[in-house]
Amino acid sequence: MEKNVRDILVSSIRDKLKSVKDLKEFDKAKISILGKKGFIKEQFKKMKALPKEERAEFGEALNNLKYEVESILSAKMQELKESEDQHKALEESVDISIPGAKRSLGRLHLITQVMQECVDVFDRMGFEVVEGPEIESTYYNFEALNTPEWHPARDLHDTFYIDEKRLLRTHTSPVQIRTMKSRRPPLRVISPGRVYRKDYDASHLPAFFQIEGLAIDKDISIPDLKGTLENVIKALLGEDKRVRFRPHYFPFTEPSVEVDVSFPQGKSGWLEILGAGMVHPQILRNVGLDPNEWQGFAFGMGVERIAMLKYNVSDIREFPRNSLNFLKLF
Ligand code: PHE
Repeated sequence: MEKNVRDILVSSIRDKLKSVKDLKEFDKAKISILGKKGFIKEQFKKMKALPKEERAEFGEALNNLKYEVESILSAKMQELKESEDQHKALEESVDISIPGAKRSLGRLHLITQVMQECVDVFDRMGFEVVEGPEIESTYYNFEALNTPEWHPARDLHDTFYIDEKRLLRTHTSPVQIRTMKSRRPPLRVISPGRVYRKDYDASHLPAFFQIEGLAIDKDISIPDLKGTLENVIKALLGEDKRVRFRPHYFPFTEPSVEVDVSFPQGKSGWLEILGAGMVHPQILRNVGLDPNEWQGFAFGMGVERIAMLKYNVSDIREFPRNSLNFLKLF
């Protein structure tokens, strides 16, 4: 093959490739050059028609041409690939100047936060968490707590009944009985949970949270009750809050108190946060403990009330209303 013939062939292939714009077109062009019916194959066919002496030389030239064409093709393919990659990268690139979509993080409900805080404070004082059912028998909710059916104190709590013998518990005090029946003293337990009443106003909800507390030991007296509660209240609400113990009546404690904390938003300047007292000797007898050997104190604290005091919320109904604008404040 003459040199200029070869040059013409090579430059015609180069021309052909010039118009190739993407890999698809490239594949077609490649087949038309190197394929079975392609340009190079055709040259090999021509070779057969040549006289024997010329064949070897032509063959060698043709092979060289083939290698050259192959390397031209692979360079072209490389070039196309790179430009396609660049193109893709450009299309997929992220515009870092666009502001991101804001996702707000969820958080625990305020009452859950306050519950956890209360539990932490009691935990540090050595109280252990126990639990009881929300659907409770009238026995545990009332009778075992010295509140027989005829008892006037029952009116206040007479509320959501499932049937004759079962109701949504009206306080966490039944857990006292369950605990004393299943464990031997000494005991230091708290029981956080939901309770149900028929109230609804700025300081009462039909479903709310209490934390019951019970301490039973051989040498427990009123100062233990008072000291424990004062410490807890100060730890939760700060040293500057004024605390008032007021005589009260509960069928299952004797003597009994209610505890108020100063609250500028309340009508009286005080908000009641808990009921408490020394465990009534009859309660101890009901669970098989000898009141001459064991004494104890108990209390039931309102968690929403603590939250009201802690965050100056004047209407307890804000908590279950669950307005995000309100909840986001905490
Ligand atoms: N169970 C009482 C209530 O809900 C509170 C209380 C608990 C009082 C324990 C005394 C002892 O009102």
